[in-house]
Amino acid sequence: MKWKLKVYLTSSYYKRTVFSTVENYFIMNTPKAIIFDLDGVLTDTSEYHYQAWKHLADDEGIPFTQEENDAHLRGVGRRDSLMYLLKGRKVSEEQMQEMMGRKNRYYTELIKNMSPKEVVAGGVDLLKEIRQAGINTAIASASRNTTTVLQRLEITSYFDGIADGNSVVNGKPAPDVFVFAAGIVNTSVVDCLGIEDANAGIEAIKAAGMMALGIGPKERFPKADKVMDNLENKNLQDLLA
Ligand code: BG6
Ligand code: MG
Repeated sequence: MKWKLKVYLTSSYYKRTVFSTVENYFIMNTPKAIIFDLDGVLTDTSEYHYQAWKHLADDEGIPFTQEENDAHLRGVGRRDSLMYLLKGRKVSEEQMQEMMGRKNRYYTELIKNMSPKEVVAGGVDLLKEIRQAGINTAIASASRNTTTVLQRLEITSYFDGIADGNSVVNGKPAPDVFVFAAGIVNTSVVDCLGIEDANAGIEAIKAAGMMALGIGPKERFPKADKVMDNLENKNLQDLLA
C-alpha cells in the first residue's frame, strides 16, 4: 500500500511516531480493519442533515448556508452543531432540547423512505471485497440514527462492529469513536484505516493514530494521508494504492 507525502519505517514504534515532511512515498501494510464514517461516505445523508438544520435555521430566522454547513457542521454531533447554528444566541437547556428534537424530526422525516439504492454506487461490492480479503469492517459515526440508516440501506450485516453517537461522550474531532470502533473489532489503532468525509472526522482518525482517507475535495482535509472525491465504484486496491 503506497501513500504519498510521508515515510513510514517498519518498526511499529517508528510507524506511529516518525514521518518525513519531505515529499515522498511510504509503504504501509494492508490494514487489518477499515473503519468507515457513515453519513457522506457510504451514503449521502450529509445532504439530509444539512436540509434538516436549514429547516430549523429558517424556523428560527437564523441565516445558514451550505458552505457554513460544510465548514462547521459536517461530521459534528447534534449538540455541537446546534451550538454553532445559534451563533451566540442565548437559549435555555429546555429550548436546546426542543430544537435538537425538532431538527431530528425533520431529519428522520427525510430518511424515512431511504432504500438500498442510496448506498454509494459499488459500495456493497467494496464492502464484500474488503471482508473477503480478511479485513475487519466497522462503522464510526457521530449519528444516533446510525442503526436506522444502516437498516434502511440493508448493509448492517457487512460490518463487524458499529460505533455511533451513543457509544462515546466526546464526539469528533476527539478520537474516541474511532478508538471504540477499533476495540470492537479487536484491532490495534495502528492497523486501522479510517475513512471520512468531514475534516473533524479526519482529525479524529489522526488523533486515534490511524491512517486517514478523506472523501471529498482535497482542500477540506489538510491532515488526510490520502484523498478521493468519492467512494463510487472503487475497489480495495483503489483505497490502498
Ligand atoms: C454525523 C453527521 O454523522 O452525525 C452530522 O455528519 C450529524 O451532520 C451527526 O449532526 C449527528 O447525527 P444525529 O443523527 O445523531 O443527529
Ligand atoms: Mg460524515
